[in-house]
Amino acid sequence: MCQRMCLIGSFVVTVILFLVKECTIVKVSACQTDCIDVKCPTHCNCMKTRADCHGRNLTYIPRIPCGIKYLYFFNNNVSTLGMKEISNLTCSFETITHISLRKCKLEQMDENVFANLTQLEILDLSGNDPKLNKNKSLQSALGKLNRAPLHTLILDRLLMQNEVQEIFKYFEGSHLTFLSMRENQIIEFDDKVLKNFTKLVHLDLHGNWINKISLSSGIETLELFNLSHNQINIFPPNFCDTETGQTRYNKLRNLDLSWNQIILSYSPNWNCLKTLETLNLSRNNIEDITRNYSFANLISLKTLILSEMKSSLRKIRKHAIESDSLQHLDLSRNGLNFEERKEVENDVFHYLPNLTLLDLSHNEIGSSFAQTTIRLSRLETLIMRQVSLRELPDNFFEHFQNLKHLDLSINKIVQFSINAFRNLTNLKFLNMSENDISNFPAPPFPPATLKSLDTFDFADNSFQCECEIIKLQKWINDVLSDPGKQNMLSRYPDGYRCLKPESMYHVPLKNAEPNNCNNSYTQLLISGICSAIICLAFTVVLVVAFIYRWEIKFLLHKMRQKRCNGYNPLTDTFEYSSYLVYAEKDSAWVIHDLLKELKEDKYNIYIRDRYSVPGVARCDEIVDNIYKSKTVIIVLSKNFMACQWCNYQMNVAQARAIKLGPRFLIPVILEGICFKNMTMSVQHLFRTSKPIEWAQRSTKNRLFWSELKTALDAEINQEFEETGYQSFDIGQVSRD
Ligand SMILES: *[C@@H]1O[C@H](CO)[C@@H](O)[C@H](O)[C@H]1NC(C)=O
Ligand SMILES: *[C@@H]1O[C@H](CO)[C@@H](O)[C@H](O)[C@H]1NC(C)=O
Ligand SMILES: *[C@@H]1O[C@H](CO)[C@@H](O)[C@H](O)[C@H]1NC(C)=O
Ligand SMILES: *[C@@H]1O[C@H](CO)[C@@H](O)[C@H](O)[C@H]1NC(C)=O
Ligand SMILES: *[C@@H]1O[C@H](CO)[C@@H](O)[C@H](O)[C@H]1NC(C)=O
Ligand SMILES: *[C@@H]1O[C@H](CO)[C@@H](O)[C@H](O)[C@H]1NC(C)=O
Ligand SMILES: *[C@@H]1O[C@H](CO)[C@@H](O)[C@H](O)[C@H]1NC(C)=O
Ligand SMILES: *[C@@H]1O[C@H](CO)[C@@H](O)[C@H](O)[C@H]1NC(C)=O
Ligand SMILES: *[C@@H]1O[C@H](CO)[C@@H](O)[C@H](O)[C@H]1NC(C)=O
Ligand SMILES: *[C@@H]1O[C@H](CO)[C@@H](O)[C@H](O)[C@H]1NC(C)=O
Ligand SMILES: *[C@@H]1O[C@H](CO)[C@@H](O)[C@H](O)[C@H]1NC(C)=O
Ligand SMILES: *[C@@H]1O[C@H](CO)[C@@H](O)[C@H](O)[C@H]1NC(C)=O
Repeated sequence: MCQRMCLIGSFVVTVILFLVKECTIVKVSACQTDCIDVKCPTHCNCMKTRADCHGRNLTYIPRIPCGIKYLYFFNNNVSTLGMKEISNLTCSFETITHISLRKCKLEQMDENVFANLTQLEILDLSGNDPKLNKNKSLQSALGKLNRAPLHTLILDRLLMQNEVQEIFKYFEGSHLTFLSMRENQIIEFDDKVLKNFTKLVHLDLHGNWINKISLSSGIETLELFNLSHNQINIFPPNFCDTETGQTRYNKLRNLDLSWNQIILSYSPNWNCLKTLETLNLSRNNIEDITRNYSFANLISLKTLILSEMKSSLRKIRKHAIESDSLQHLDLSRNGLNFEERKEVENDVFHYLPNLTLLDLSHNEIGSSFAQTTIRLSRLETLIMRQVSLRELPDNFFEHFQNLKHLDLSINKIVQFSINAFRNLTNLKFLNMSENDISNFPAPPFPPATLKSLDTFDFADNSFQCECEIIKLQKWINDVLSDPGKQNMLSRYPDGYRCLKPESMYHVPLKNAEPNNCNNSYTQLLISGICSAIICLAFTVVLVVAFIYRWEIKFLLHKMRQKRCNGYNPLTDTFEYSSYLVYAEKDSAWVIHDLLKELKEDKYNIYIRDRYSVPGVARCDEIVDNIYKSKTVIIVLSKNFMACQWCNYQMNVAQARAIKLGPRFLIPVILEGICFKNMTMSVQHLFRTSKPIEWAQRSTKNRLFWSELKTALDAEINQEFEETGYQSFDIGQVSRD
């Protein structure tokens, strides 16, 4: 079943193919009989209705088969085009619609060469020898095209000068819609010449030397008039009748006056152009646009180009470019200083309610001007390439809710915050390349902005590939992993390279691995380790401080001691520096350590055993000597607690201390004693005087001696007369 269907199918196809082939043959056989054998010439490529023989330096036109519509014969070498040469086209006389004889070194033509090309629509004779029209053979030949439906005539680069006034003497051009005479040397142009061209839509006179132009005749059908690259100076061409103020250019939509030498944007010369939509005035010598409403009467104007006037334009007044209809305004490459020199008045953009595109590239704008004065809520495209932007304040784009295309490339922006773009929820294109941003916030915009964005270019910034950059790398990977955003980052990864640190110069951002911070986990780990180290160090310091607390105390003590006065000799009233109370069992320490040390420093110490006077009652002796001593050192120990006699001596001393003050007693702890085991008087002693502790370790001993001597000195050097209470006591003692 299926096989049969296939068979039938292929049979049908074969039949159709056969018929099609027959048809072509039928067409060819429609040629005149002497054309049937004409094949595509060896120097040409023929494809269906096209014969392409260009660029062969052919000195003749070869025989062309019939049925050819398009003959491309440019870049050849046919100096003379006579009837003989053209007769090789005979077979296709009735089909040819398009001939290009551009750059064929044509010098002369027979006046009838085109006479039999009755279907010719497009003729290009550009770039041939100037003799061609100097000699008027061109003028005559064109005159024979009146029967053809010629709509496009291209006469570029023929060094035409004033011949232009005569060239269409015989040519009616009743079908002509496009006439191009670019890059000739036309100096004067009067539109009277084209008066008969009643269908002309597009006239291109770009690249001539026109400085005199008369447009009084008018071309009612003209829509595009290209006068760029001429030498029109001072005033723009006058399209408006000086008397009636009317124009015959009633359909003109696009006027290109760029690259002329116009100085004044003189509005009366174009006010009448009510249909004009595009006016290109770039690269003129306009000095200022100060005249009120220079463009306001161009009520259909949508695109105005006032760019590339760096060396002339110095002022734009507030109302000068006011326009309700204007949609695109190009002020780029004017080197205008908006901020400091105020070359553009603040409110210039306030009177452009319909503006959707603004190009301010290559001016000196500055952030604050842009922020305060450009408030165009309908704006969709804002180009601020190379305008010396340094900042991007958060509310910079607050008034651009409809912005879709934003170019901020080649500025000096150093940083910006995620909020800078928060109001741009329709943004599709953002270019921030070639700024000085070292690290982009990650994410650089709020989710709503990211959602709408199709293209984001931030290549060639000053990427600083340190730990912070990891966040950006992560954001980039996140974005690229989103199927809808895979192509969002333009020029990634090649255009994104580290500038700093030096070790990573020119490394692609993608591969940058900043040291010691591969990811946030490591970062966390590192910070953990750091704090642990700090804790440890602190603990070590504490422990060391505890171990060496005595040394430290000693040092502190020494420092304090330095501030005290030196040693004063004893006065007559006191015989001893100190009276020593100690248990008999501690006498070894007392004699070997305490006495030895204190003696060395010339303290006069009273010890019971040594100074005991035989026969005198022991109690009296004790009392006497205590009263003769400036201080009493009490050597506290377990032995002391067990020694009744010692306690007695201490009590006497404590009684004496009531008169002389608590510093009279200097308790010294030889070994730890339990508080429980202390007698009441020892407990009392502890409360009133700070005991000095003894330990076996040498430095502590240094502290011990130092403290002890300080205590001694403090009391010995004390002048008793200083307080009334003590001086009374002294008086009593002296009387005794
Ligand atoms: C035609 O002549 C030019 C200039 O002499 C030469 O550069 C070019 O190669 C020639 N073309 C052919 C196809 O011979
Ligand atoms: C016409 O074309 C043929 C080759 O196709 C050529 O040999 C002949 O010289 C041409 N005739 C003229 C008058 O140019
Ligand atoms: C063009 O043709 C002339 C002769 O007709 C010849 O002298 C010249 O060299 C040719 N030029 C090129 C580029 O072939
Ligand atoms: C042009 O056509 C006419 C008749 O239609 C004919 O007499 C004449 O010879 C042709 N010219 C050329 C150059 O073929
Ligand atoms: C102009 O062309 C004709 C042939 O159409 C020729 O006879 C005449 O000599 C040429 N004149 C000049 C000045 O080249
Ligand atoms: C316009 O055409 C008329 C008649 O066809 C002719 O007489 C006149 O010279 C032409 N004008 C121009 C400027 O070519
Ligand atoms: C005028 O001609 C120049 C040069 O060809 C071209 O760049 C420009 O686009 C043309 N202007 C218009 C409006 O087409
Ligand atoms: C002038 O501006 C028009 C409109 O944008 C543009 O098409 C044309 O190319 C410009 N002319 C030149 C010479 O650039
Ligand atoms: C331009 O308009 C402003 C305000 O409408 C006006 O103050 C100023 O005088 C006008 N300037 C000129 C030159 O007409
Ligand atoms: C403003 O632009 C819109 C199209 O965007 C257009 O329809 C409207 O007419 C324009 N307004 C004026 C005053 O030209
Ligand atoms: C811009 O966005 C902020 C925060 O979303 C909002 O508070 C503010 O009103 C917006 N500004 C405008 C003009 O919509
Ligand atoms: C962004 O701007 C730079 C510099 O102006 C340019 O080279 C680059 O092509 C632009 N990027 C896109 C995506 O247009």
